[in-house]
Amino acid sequence: MEIKDVIGSFEEAGGDCTTKEKVYSLLGRLGEYHESTLEHSLRIGLLSRDLGSMQNREPKAGLYGALHDIGKISIPKSLLDKCEGFDEEDRKVMKGHVVEGYKILVDYGLPFSAWIALTHHRCQPNFYPTEKEMVNYPFPIAGANPSTRLLADTWASLVGIADVYDAAKNRRNDKFNGMILSPQELKAWLIKQNPSSEQIIERAYENGIF
Ligand SMILES: [Fe+2]
Ligand SMILES: [Fe+2]
Repeated sequence: MEIKDVIGSFEEAGGDCTTKEKVYSLLGRLGEYHESTLEHSLRIGLLSRDLGSMQNREPKAGLYGALHDIGKISIPKSLLDKCEGFDEEDRKVMKGHVVEGYKILVDYGLPFSAWIALTHHRCQPNFYPTEKEMVNYPFPIAGANPSTRLLADTWASLVGIADVYDAAKNRRNDKFNGMILSPQELKAWLIKQNPSSEQIIERAYENGIF
C-alpha cells in the first residue's frame, strides 16, 4: 500500500493542494520513521473514509484517519516495536502520542486533524486524555460553533472505531494473550470498546466495511 494510492483515493474529499502536500509530507516522515505505523495509518485512512461516507457522506474523514497517529513520530521506536510486557511507564509514554500529534498538526495548520489526533482514544472505556488534561488543549479552530465541534467529535469517534478494529485484527501484542479473535469475538470487542457506537458498528458490518 502506497501513500499516493491511499491519498489519491481521497480525491473526492476535495482537500486543496496545500492540504494534500502537508499530508504527503507528514506521512512520508512517518513512513521513514516507522513503517508499520504508516501502514496502520493508511489502513485507518481507508476505513475512516468508508465509515465517514456511510455516516454523513463525508469522505474527508479518510484524511483525519490517515493522520490520527502522526504523534508516534515522537515516541521511541523501541516502544513502537514492543509486543508484550508493557509497564506503567511504557503506557504513559505511548499515551503521549495523542498530544504530540495535536501539536504537530496545529503547527501544520491542520486543526481538524489535530483535534482528531488528540481525541481518537476518548470514546473508549480507558479513555485519554482525561477531562482534566483536556483543559490544556483547546479546540484549535477559533470561534468554532458547537456544530463544528460536534462534527469533529463525530469524526474522532469514527476514526477511533476504525483504530480499535485494525489494532485487534493486525497488531501483535499481548492484549489477547497472543490469540487471534474470531470474527464474532472481534465484533463484540469493537462494541465493548466503543459502547456509544454500537449501531454504527452494526451498519459498518452490514455495509461490508468490516
Ligand atoms: Fe492512537
Ligand atoms: Fe492507531
